[in-house]
Amino acid sequence: MSDNKDSNPKQKQSADHKQSTNQKSSTDQKPPANQQPAQTAVLEPKRTSVGHETRRIDGPLKVTGKAVYTSDHNFPGMVYAVPVGATIANGKVTKIDAAEAEKMPGVHAIYHRTNIGQLFRVAPDSTFTAYTDEPRPPLEDDIIRYYGQYVALAVADTFEQAKAAADAVKVTYQEEKPNVSPKLTADDKVKVESHRGDAQKAFDSAAIKLDETYTTASQTHNVIELHATVAVFDGTKFTMYETTQGVVNHKNVLVQVLGVDPENLQVISKFLGSGFGSKITPWSHCALAGAAARKLNRPVKLVVSRKMSFHAVGHRPRTQQRVRLSAQPDGKLTSIQHDYFNHTSMLDDYKENCGECTSYLYSTPNLRITSALSRRNVGTPTSMRGPGAVPGLFATESAMDELAIKLKMDPVKLRIINEPTIDEGLNLPFASRHLIGCYKQGADLFGWDQRDPRIGSMKKNGLTLGWGTAGASWIAERFPAEVAIQLNNDGTARVSSATQDIGTGTYTVFAQVVGDKLGIPIEKVEVVLGDTSLPAGPLSGGSMGIASIIPATTKAIEKAVDTLLTAAVQSPLTKFSGAKKTELALTNGNVHRKDQPSKEGVPFETVMQQVNLNKISGKASSPGTFSGKKQSSMHSYGVHFVEVTWQEELARLRVSRVVTVIDAGKIMNPKTGRNQIEGAIVMGLGMALFEGTEYEPTKGAPINSSLADYILPVNADMPKMDVHFLEVPNTELNEYGARGIGEIGLAGLAPALANAVHHATGIRVRNLPIRIEDLMGEST
Ligand code: MOS
Repeated sequence: MSDNKDSNPKQKQSADHKQSTNQKSSTDQKPPANQQPAQTAVLEPKRTSVGHETRRIDGPLKVTGKAVYTSDHNFPGMVYAVPVGATIANGKVTKIDAAEAEKMPGVHAIYHRTNIGQLFRVAPDSTFTAYTDEPRPPLEDDIIRYYGQYVALAVADTFEQAKAAADAVKVTYQEEKPNVSPKLTADDKVKVESHRGDAQKAFDSAAIKLDETYTTASQTHNVIELHATVAVFDGTKFTMYETTQGVVNHKNVLVQVLGVDPENLQVISKFLGSGFGSKITPWSHCALAGAAARKLNRPVKLVVSRKMSFHAVGHRPRTQQRVRLSAQPDGKLTSIQHDYFNHTSMLDDYKENCGECTSYLYSTPNLRITSALSRRNVGTPTSMRGPGAVPGLFATESAMDELAIKLKMDPVKLRIINEPTIDEGLNLPFASRHLIGCYKQGADLFGWDQRDPRIGSMKKNGLTLGWGTAGASWIAERFPAEVAIQLNNDGTARVSSATQDIGTGTYTVFAQVVGDKLGIPIEKVEVVLGDTSLPAGPLSGGSMGIASIIPATTKAIEKAVDTLLTAAVQSPLTKFSGAKKTELALTNGNVHRKDQPSKEGVPFETVMQQVNLNKISGKASSPGTFSGKKQSSMHSYGVHFVEVTWQEELARLRVSRVVTVIDAGKIMNPKTGRNQIEGAIVMGLGMALFEGTEYEPTKGAPINSSLADYILPVNADMPKMDVHFLEVPNTELNEYGARGIGEIGLAGLAPALANAVHHATGIRVRNLPIRIEDLMGEST
């Protein structure tokens, strides 16, 4: 049924990749005796690939077009589904007239509330095993709560026929004025997120204080691979090809919505053209495609259009954040207050947790953080890369820059003065925190000591330079994970887990971990992901994928190796016959006596051949870190230094240079790691200067719903990027000390850029994105 055979990144590798393989394996050879010491160092045996620049093992499949993405799947008898979206944002459907559409060529069905069959709500679940930001099933009632909400589904032989039929469905509404106001107010209860001391009292009595409100625009993820579902139903069982950052979660949600037994639904997602959070949970289209496939008993393909992506698959909500800081004249903070709102949809409760980092980033005796939701006629928001921390840090790190200016103090010095010794929010020691180390290294690399703090004072080639900085932080946690390993008697290994590679390099780093643990080159490791028939793996979310799979992988390998060593000592046919298992080890791919070097041992495949075993398996799981009492506060940290150039007579702002230093523990693969941070810098530039989903106030529609109108950064906008990792591994989270790097690079970039803009222009922009119009007014 599946044409996934080519999809395994291990199976086909380019000549190019082989070449790098050969280079690597040559390093395993013993250097000739006449080798000079310097060269000997280069040629030292280096079996481990963890921590080394390693190309993506799935890269060749992607650049040759052989990687099979969700919407590439085609099946005999497959039909196409196109949803009909509401053209109002608030009101009711009074009539759906599908008579004409049903008669159009190729049309199989027009589904709507009364004929789709039953779909169910998703039970609330805070454990990440079955959660969704929109628990309401599609077509549940006739009420319209946001523009584009699905009201019907046209299914036809071709995409064009389905689109034409969808356009021909006549929907009559009773329309009310929508509320998409960007001015956010508390519509639900205000929640106190964290507090200590008496922040208001400290603020009132302080000599130096700041009280400002910052906003960040609603943002659409704009993943390049459109969201899609190809639903196959065989009369009993669903096979759902999905665009997802979590096949297991996706399955656990869909079995509830479709009302089927878990064994009767399989989710497959082998490659992802990015997700950025929008593909963490299933959206309505998945259930619609599944329901249609069941009704018609045919495979159904549904691709969410770019326009629909602006309302139907989540977005980062608009935030509005009031920050109050007070300080002593020496710069010591005496209070922090952070009160934030985010808009959310009418029924759901997605919270953008802007105060995430506020309670531990700086030392202060008095602090109060509150949150509240503003209900608007918009689609349900969701996580977008660095949810909470990213917009939150725009507010707090802009405010710190403003405070530094009030204090006439260097902004880096202000951070150093307020560096805490413990996490004062949790009252726990930090497990690993090197924020000041990041500032010091970054300042050095950037040349920060050359900064003249006077506004507009720095000039280069006729341009005004602006230099700004800001810090970043992100969680370091683990999801529960289950991993299976298989040793093969040809010296290869297969590792599998129902996690997925969302474009970040999971296939590659997984192979590196297994290669490292077994002591074999990664070319001998087959990585199988993206399928719920495999042992339950973690979500690719929260930058937690790799950190989560390491402990389970290690345990699974230990089990397989134990089986191997047991067979080796029990069989009369190996040279370890009769030895004690505890006297043996597997190192550098060889079974050997612990009291002898590994090169005196026997390759594990030879042992397997001698004992007549084709395969040896091991499976293990490891718990997550969200529950249970914490002993320490562990996060990742980072710092950005940004240089902008400002040409006042043309009102031309450019970002010329970014230096970023990241403290995320061990970097498993500096190549894919740097790629993550560079991508995040690009995204941060978009957030700071361009991106914002605009809701038209009378109809409530996201009006810039295309890649022409929703402005994203392009190559011409790119600064020179200089990314460094401050690798100080801490092994509390896993044995390598890897903490994940998918999101930290975006945190802090927008405030560093806004701070640089202020330094160049004297204009403080507190509402993102920064527009040229903002910079054409008076200095603030
Ligand atoms: Mo991320 S927003 O956890 O994909």
